[in-house]
Amino acid sequence: MQQEQYIDELINFITASPTPFHTVAASVALLKKNGFQQLREDEIWNERETALPAGNYFVVRSLSSLIAFCWQGAGSNTNTIKPLQMVGAHTDSPSLKVKPIPVKLQQNCLQLGVEVYGGALLAPWFDRELSLAGQVWWLNGLGEEQSTLLDFKQNIAIIPSLAIHLNREANKKEGNGINKQTHLVPVIGLSNDDEELFFDTILKKQLNIDADAEITGHDLFFYDAHPPVRTGLARELITGSRLDNLVSCFAAVQSLISGEADMNNMIILNNHEEVGSVSTCGAQGSFLRDTLEWLVPEREKRLAMVRTSLLISADNAHAVHPNYTDKHDPQHQPRLGQGPVIKHNANQRYATSGSTAARFKMLCKKTQVPVQEFVMRSDMGCGSTMGPLTAAEIGVETVDVGIPSLAMHSIRETAAGIDCWYLYQVLQRFFRG
Ligand code: CO
Repeated sequence: MQQEQYIDELINFITASPTPFHTVAASVALLKKNGFQQLREDEIWNERETALPAGNYFVVRSLSSLIAFCWQGAGSNTNTIKPLQMVGAHTDSPSLKVKPIPVKLQQNCLQLGVEVYGGALLAPWFDRELSLAGQVWWLNGLGEEQSTLLDFKQNIAIIPSLAIHLNREANKKEGNGINKQTHLVPVIGLSNDDEELFFDTILKKQLNIDADAEITGHDLFFYDAHPPVRTGLARELITGSRLDNLVSCFAAVQSLISGEADMNNMIILNNHEEVGSVSTCGAQGSFLRDTLEWLVPEREKRLAMVRTSLLISADNAHAVHPNYTDKHDPQHQPRLGQGPVIKHNANQRYATSGSTAARFKMLCKKTQVPVQEFVMRSDMGCGSTMGPLTAAEIGVETVDVGIPSLAMHSIRETAAGIDCWYLYQVLQRFFRG
């Protein structure tokens, strides 16, 4: 695949993935198209008494996390242990999650109450056409439980700003306090009668299911109705929602698909990174450990395999902002368009070590891709990612990397198209040995 086609397909992937449920569904579609078979966690893989045959597989947990692998077996003894190349990324992004009983009528505006999911930059959510997507659970007329992906796909909501005439302080730094309970409630339309509208009614209509069906659960998130686009005089920039971290998810899936057939390669796409990763399907949960135990039931063999392996944890990095250069250490200012970034932190907020950084740099060198390095200013706190959590969970040597980007956690982020391509090149090389 060439660079321009890759970027077009990346934009399509992000557009098709407004929520972690959709990210997993879009990834599964790509994997299935390329011959990967689904394994189910509620089946006993090794019942047949022989190890899982060599092949390409994937497992989904909680509909929102995915592990996929090309598997050749762990090897039979110390001399033949095969390492497992691993790439990790996260499927979720900061957003606004619909509350369990969300509908409210204020004045004559119909609104849906939301909780803030993750560390969202809130101001950019105002005055932007929003759509709604996620997963819905319901009982059909026969009382059978059903679960369906839902995406309204069109703009159905807006969070209007307060006019500057009603808040003269709005452009001052201290004038922008946003109350998450009262200021952030999206408007989904007008109603001139006081008849109560139930959220179930809205969902049933959108899902096109019978009126006697019963909605029993939902995980629904608002998102920017405008898809990612190319920007810049030479179209060298990409702006759009969820670049963190769907750029990495897409690179992981595509490079696994084009990996070398006689290697053990794996991608781990976890939900819940933006809220701390402690969940059934988050990086601090048991998903990866359970999968490795199934793959290699013999403990010593499994430990030997993990200890010869490397995890590349891919999550976007902060490019230096041209208007705020003082926010970066002067010696560590990753630039847009100049290659993936290795993230360092002395206090292990990133899992990178001298040794794993060296391995990643070698990989970039072999791929002829430029590489940059980031460390936070010593007088500022450092973010984190799933790299250290996965490293600690299973004891794998890990390097934290990511494409440089601006406006991280805004509803629209900015990155350079070529960096997305570079990341794919490097991960593809990793999976080709
Ligand atoms: Co991220």
